Amino acid sequence: MKHYYEASYGSRDYEELLLQETIFHNANGYIGVRGCLEEGLPPGCDTIRGSYINGFYDFAKMSQAEKLCGLVEEKQTMVNVADTQTILLKVDGEACRLEEGEVLEGARVLDMDKGITLRRFRYETPQGKQVQVEIRRMASFALLSLFTIEYRVKPLNFDGIVEFVSVHEGKVENYSNPNDPRVAGERMVHLRQESCGVRDNVSYIVSSAVHSGLGVCTATAHKMTPALDQEQEWVEETSVKKQFSVFLRAGQTAVLEKYTVFADSIRSQNCWQTAEEEMGRALSCPLSEWYEKQEAYLKDFWENSALEIAGDEELSRAVDYNLYQLLQSVSKDAYGNIAAKGLSGEGYEGHYFWDTEMYIQPFFVLTNPKLSRNLIAYRYEILEEARKNARILGHKKGALYPWRTIMGRECSGYFPSGSAQYHINGDIAYATVAYYLATGDLEFMAEKGAEILYETARLWLDVGNYYNGTFQIHTVTGPDEYTCLVDNNYFTNVNAQYNLHWAVKIYRLLKEAGMEEKAVARTGLLPEELRAFEEAETHMYLPYDEKLGINPQDDSFLSKKMWDLEHTNKEEFPLLLHYHPMYLYRYQVCKQADTVLAHFIFEDAQSMETIRNSFLYYEKVTTHDSSLSTCIYSIVASRLGMKEKAYEYFGDSAKLDLFNTHKNTKDGIHTANMGGTYMGIVYGFAGLRLKEQGLSLAPYLPEKWESYRFCFFYQGSQIQVEVDREGTRLTLKKGAPVTVFLFEKEYIVT
Ligand code: BGC
Repeated sequence: MKHYYEASYGSRDYEELLLQETIFHNANGYIGVRGCLEEGLPPGCDTIRGSYINGFYDFAKMSQAEKLCGLVEEKQTMVNVADTQTILLKVDGEACRLEEGEVLEGARVLDMDKGITLRRFRYETPQGKQVQVEIRRMASFALLSLFTIEYRVKPLNFDGIVEFVSVHEGKVENYSNPNDPRVAGERMVHLRQESCGVRDNVSYIVSSAVHSGLGVCTATAHKMTPALDQEQEWVEETSVKKQFSVFLRAGQTAVLEKYTVFADSIRSQNCWQTAEEEMGRALSCPLSEWYEKQEAYLKDFWENSALEIAGDEELSRAVDYNLYQLLQSVSKDAYGNIAAKGLSGEGYEGHYFWDTEMYIQPFFVLTNPKLSRNLIAYRYEILEEARKNARILGHKKGALYPWRTIMGRECSGYFPSGSAQYHINGDIAYATVAYYLATGDLEFMAEKGAEILYETARLWLDVGNYYNGTFQIHTVTGPDEYTCLVDNNYFTNVNAQYNLHWAVKIYRLLKEAGMEEKAVARTGLLPEELRAFEEAETHMYLPYDEKLGINPQDDSFLSKKMWDLEHTNKEEFPLLLHYHPMYLYRYQVCKQADTVLAHFIFEDAQSMETIRNSFLYYEKVTTHDSSLSTCIYSIVASRLGMKEKAYEYFGDSAKLDLFNTHKNTKDGIHTANMGGTYMGIVYGFAGLRLKEQGLSLAPYLPEKWESYRFCFFYQGSQIQVEVDREGTRLTLKKGAPVTVFLFEKEYIVT
C-alpha cells in the first residue's frame, strides 16, 4: 500500500494555506521547514514562515508579575533560523502568484514513501500565458543537514522567458500572538546576523541567538537546467539573492534545484565550516541520488513501523500521516528530543514535555529502539539541570525534571499547571523502564538509565511524607490541567510507586550482573535509601472511593461541583480560553485523561471493576480539550470491551491534525496525539502490554475493518501481528523465538 496524502491546491483560501504550512512541512528530526509557498502569500495574510533546528534555542525573558522565590524568569524558545524557501517565479515578466493569475488545476501531495512533498499546478497569468509548475521539497533523512527544493516550470502555450529569483534571508522573526497562551506572546528579535556572503557559488549566512549565544549557519547553492542564459547575484547585509533566467519554448522545462544546509554550534565547533562540508556532501551527487536514499530510508521505516489497515481508507491514511510525522519530528541524536509540535511550527515554542515519554516513546520503543534510547539519553544529558531544578523548588535531594524545556531548564511560566506536574519524573522513569523491558539493554541502564531512576525516586521521598501509615504526595498537579495543586493525585502516586519500585529493581538487576557500581558512585546511593524507596512504594497511598467504586482523581476532586458539560456551548471549548483557571479548578471537569491514563499504564494496580467504574465516571466530566486525551479513552475502552466507543475515540485521535479538529494545527502538529494513535491500535485494539512478567497481546478486530497488521521489536527479535476475521497470527520475522502471552495463554513464536 502506498503511503500518500493529497489535498487540493489553488483556491485563495489563505487560512487553508496557513494550515497547509503545517500539514506539508518537511522535517527529518534535525531540521524542519514549514510548507510555505515559495513565493509567499499576499501582504497582510497570516503566515508562519519558519525553519527550525531541533534543540536550537534562544533565551527570552519571562515576566512574572510578582517576584516570588524560585519562579522562572527566563525561558528557552525555538528560533526561526533563516528563510531559504523563497523562490519568486516570473513568466515573460509576469509574477507567478496565487493572487495575480489563476490556478487552473493543482494539488499538494505528501508522498511518505518517497519522503517528499509536491506542489503541482497549472497556472495562467493575467495575460493568458500558461505554465505547468511542479515543486518538490525534501528534508533528507540520509543527510540530516540537507533541505532541497526542486522547482520545475514548463511553458504550455507560449515561448518566452522564465525567471527565478532565489532568496536566502537571514533576517527572520518568530511568530507571536499575544492572545493565545499556546504560542509566544511577545514579538522578539532572536537572531543577530554575523556574516553574509558568497563563496564558490554558495551563499552563507552566519547568525547567533541574541541571548543564548548559540551559532547557526545556513548555506544555499543552486543547480539549473538548462544551462543559463543569465545569472545575477545580489549580496546584501542580511540576504543573498540570485536570479536565473532562461528562454524556453513551449513544452520545454526549466529546473532549478536549490540546496540548503543547516549547521549549529550545539553540534559543531565551527558551524560555518560544518555548513561548508555538509554542502560539499550535498552537491557531491545528483539530487536523484538523494531521492533514492530517502526512499530506501523510508522503505526500512515502513517495514518496521507500518500499521496496515484494511477496511477504512480514510482512517488508514490518517494513521500513516501520524506515524510519518513522528519520524519527521524525532531527534536523531541526544541533543534534541521531540517537541510538542515537532519541527512543524512554533506552538509551545518548541518545548519538550512529558508527551515524549508517555505518548511517543511507546511507538519508538517497539519500532526503533535506537531512537528510543536517544530520547532517554537526552533526559540523561539534562539530568544535572534537573538536579538544579529540584534545588530551586526546595528539594534537598534528587532531581526534578522541568515540565517544559529545550536545554534542560524549566520554561513554564504558570507553575500551577507547569512545574507542579511532578509526574514528569515518573513519566521519564516509566519510559526508561519501558526501554529496558523492550530491549533488555542492561548496559544502557548501568550507563544512564539507573541514574535517572535513582534521582527521580529520591525526589519522591523528599516531596512526599508519611501520614496515618501511608505515604502521601501533596500539592502537585496531575496530567489534568483543569485541576491544579492537589493532594494525592492518583496518577502521580501510582506513577511514583512504579518509579520507586524500579529504582530498587534496577539496582538489584545491575548488582546481580556486577554492573551496579557506576550509577551508585555517581549518585552516592546508600542502602538505606533503597530501603526507604521500598517502604514508600509499599505504603503509597492510592485514593479509592468505596461508594462510587472508583479512584478519585485526588483527595478533593469528588467533593467539588460537577461541570455540566452537556449544556456548555460548543463555542466555549477549549474552556481554558474562556474561563479563569481558578473557576475551572473548583469544578469536577477535566481537560484530559488523568486517572483513566493511570488505569491504562498501571492497569494491575486496580481491579477491572474499578477501572470500568472510573472510566464511566470521568468520561462524563472530560472535555478532551487537550489533544492527549481521546487516544487514552480509546485504549481503555478497548480494554473494557467497549468496542464502539474505542473506535470513535480512536477516529477522533487519528484525524485530529489532518482535519484540524482542535483548530490550532496552523501552529504545528500534535505529536503526542500522533503517538496516541499508534497506541490506540497496538495497545488498544491489539492489547499489547510490556510488563515485568513479559509480553502479552489480546487483539480484537474493530467491526469496520477487515484486518490489520503491524510489526514490533522485542528483546532483539521482530514479531509480526496480523489480525483478521479468522483470528490472530503471530510470525517471527527476525531473531530468536519469543514467548508471548496471547489472551493470557503462553505461546512461543518461532
Ligand atoms: C496538555 C499537556 C501537554 C501539552 C503539550 C497541554 O495542552 O494539557 O498535557 O503536555 O499540552 O502537548
